[in-house]
Amino acid sequence: MIHLPRGTQDILPGDSEKWQYVEDVFTTICHQFNYKEIRTPIFEHTELFQRGVGDTTDIVQKEMYTFNDRSDRSLTLRPEGTASVVRSYVQNKLYGVNTQPQKLFYNGPMFRYERPQQGRMRQFVQFGIEALGSADPSIDAEVIGLAMHLYQSLGLKSLRLVINSLGDQESREAHRQALVNHFKPHEEELCSDCQQRLEKNPLRVLDCKKDKDHPAMQDAPKILSYLTDEASEYFNQLKKYLDAMGIDYVVDSNLVRGLDYYNHTAFEIMSDADGFGSISTLSGGGRYNGLVEELGGPNTPGIGFALSVERLLMALEVEGVELPVNEGLDCYVISMNDEANLKAVELVHELRKHNIQVDKDYLGKKMKAQFKTADREKATLVLIIGDEELQQNVVQVKNMTDGIQETVDHKDLVSYIKDRI
Ligand code: HAM
Repeated sequence: MIHLPRGTQDILPGDSEKWQYVEDVFTTICHQFNYKEIRTPIFEHTELFQRGVGDTTDIVQKEMYTFNDRSDRSLTLRPEGTASVVRSYVQNKLYGVNTQPQKLFYNGPMFRYERPQQGRMRQFVQFGIEALGSADPSIDAEVIGLAMHLYQSLGLKSLRLVINSLGDQESREAHRQALVNHFKPHEEELCSDCQQRLEKNPLRVLDCKKDKDHPAMQDAPKILSYLTDEASEYFNQLKKYLDAMGIDYVVDSNLVRGLDYYNHTAFEIMSDADGFGSISTLSGGGRYNGLVEELGGPNTPGIGFALSVERLLMALEVEGVELPVNEGLDCYVISMNDEANLKAVELVHELRKHNIQVDKDYLGKKMKAQFKTADREKATLVLIIGDEELQQNVVQVKNMTDGIQETVDHKDLVSYIKDRI
């Protein structure tokens, strides 16, 4: 037997309905917030992620599914959605003055070669949004607001929004220098990755998984102490907007995010539910004002976030939220003999054309067993066809909720059913 690859999963009937449900809610909410769907390829040129996500990130250094195609081009299965959306924004010149901001959403599989555990997969599905072309902090608040609204409207309660500012270029330069000065005396004690990070991108030292307990981590310089007046004012504005929207948050100056493109706003939403496990981050996002330019477009601000459906469904389960799915069939048609079965085939096809959800037996089961199946499928109505019904051109319709059984003429059947489902 061939098994599925480690870190992937099959989503079977019974669960796939939950996926469809949350996808529908996400799409509906995106439309309410006036975000429009964008679909980009699942693989891209490797260079996109090296430049977009950043050469010094764990994602690019350790986690990408990279391969050469038959023409020896280096391609990579996308580890996230933002770089692809920005590539498409630049390539399709979506930056025309009268069409800003471009508010886009996406939903699809992402791939990271990580050590699989609960809530961490090698193939996972992200819902994400990106708003390009506005540097107004009220759109940062909108992005955070959409994320919170999505979770809350699905019924999650134990949520914690953590925000931080990573500042503008000047703030980051000052912070970078402070980090180098702080960690340089401990360089020998840090892991070899961190020694390199200290050269190339000292901010990345702060989210090292190996050195996270090193004493120098505790009192490392915080970005919030290095914000320029402008960056500080931007962050204050964001907080004001969140307050106005009634969205609670905590500021955590240690939140740095795992991707290189961020500046100004960074945020994560955590689950505080009991039993959620060690990976408590449900989603994350932030502002990336340099990314469009980095990928060859005009200087354009942007902000977005992404969540994984796997962690969303885990949180719903841990909080005991039942989604309204798996409600059962509208109708099940039971036929008592071969001739009735012919009628059942005709009827089922006809009803389906009228948007009625209906099924029948395909195993030649006895009547009693067909009733059992109707029960198992949670059919609201059971339609019964026997010799007498055939002769009189009627069906018996039994309503499984109240047990009432009535004889219904074929010509009235569609409206009879529609009144009852
Ligand atoms: P990220 O923090 O790398 O950000 O991922 C966002 C979310 O994807 C995480 O919070 C988590 O829910 C989920 N996720 C990440 N890796 C895994 C995994 N291995 N298994 C299951 N779920 C996972 C980004 O991807 C950015 N592109 C977000 C963004 C959009 N920033 C701006 N715009």
